Amino acid sequence: MKRLIACMVALLSLSGCTAAQPVSNKIKIGVTVYDSYDTFISELMDNFDADMTNYSNITLQKYDASKTQSQQNKQVEKMIEDGCNVICVNLVDRTAPKKIIDLAKASDVPIIFFNRELVAEDLQQWSGLYYIGANAEESGVMEGKIAADAWKASAASDKNSDGIIQYVVMEGEAGHQDAIVRTEKSVNTLIDSGLQVDKLASPIANWNKSQAQTRMASLITQYRDSVEMVLCNNDDMALGVIDAYRAAGLSREQWPIIVGIDGTKPGLEAVASGEMAGTVYNNKEGQASAMADLAVALASKESTSSLNLEDGRYIRLAYEPITSSNVSEYIDQK
Ligand code: GAL
Ligand code: CA
Repeated sequence: MKRLIACMVALLSLSGCTAAQPVSNKIKIGVTVYDSYDTFISELMDNFDADMTNYSNITLQKYDASKTQSQQNKQVEKMIEDGCNVICVNLVDRTAPKKIIDLAKASDVPIIFFNRELVAEDLQQWSGLYYIGANAEESGVMEGKIAADAWKASAASDKNSDGIIQYVVMEGEAGHQDAIVRTEKSVNTLIDSGLQVDKLASPIANWNKSQAQTRMASLITQYRDSVEMVLCNNDDMALGVIDAYRAAGLSREQWPIIVGIDGTKPGLEAVASGEMAGTVYNNKEGQASAMADLAVALASKESTSSLNLEDGRYIRLAYEPITSSNVSEYIDQK
């Protein structure tokens, strides 16, 4: 039984919203996310909704694709039928954008893909296609650097004193650009920092806290306290790893170095408390506001030149490393 498609139509009116910028004509913006239960995506969308209140005359039509590409295709079809002027798509399957591209092209409705990056050739299929996200490579390098610094800062990190890091990578999602690249770059950065590494396991936990907890719990049964580092492709999985150590009753000294990526609210708190050695800020505020600005410009057929699109199609926000030394700035800012 398919989940009922939840459709929320929000009319953002000028009343009670004094700073709202009127857009020339009434416009309608559609959004579909791969999974509204994903922490980072839901924080990004909260920012996007807040950004939209800066404009008047805009109607939003939003859907959750519930991890089903065929459902997302139908949502895009419906948004086109309903007269959306531009549609923001967080693809379920980044290798399967064809149907959506064909629909958009046939009806001349621009699409802004975000967060789940389709291959460059697909984005070149039509001039009305855009991508907003970040450079995955950068996040992996920053995560590896944070992990290397944490390792070097304490001799106790090398629990078995063999001079080698016995590590686990908690992987996001099979085939996702961020999972593939973050895993590769974080480990390579450790090696490039002159460290020796020994991979114990690299389970997939689909960006999800409870799946990561389950995966880590079985590794704790196998390795007890001998895991020395857990590189997580995102914060939610790092938090699941922490839950597993806590549930196993291991003392903080027995925990490995745990690093995440995203800088979500709970992720920042775990860095502040020292449970995570650090995280990498995935600029959801920047991505959301770039998406809002681009969507409004495209829907109102205004120039996008002030948005500095790379190759006329891409906007990528920079990542930022976060450790105990600067985490308070991020907590204060949120
Ligand atoms: C990543 C983010 C993850 C997850 C994923 C979904 O960029 O770090 O937490 O949200 O996107 O595609
Ligand atoms: Ca060791």
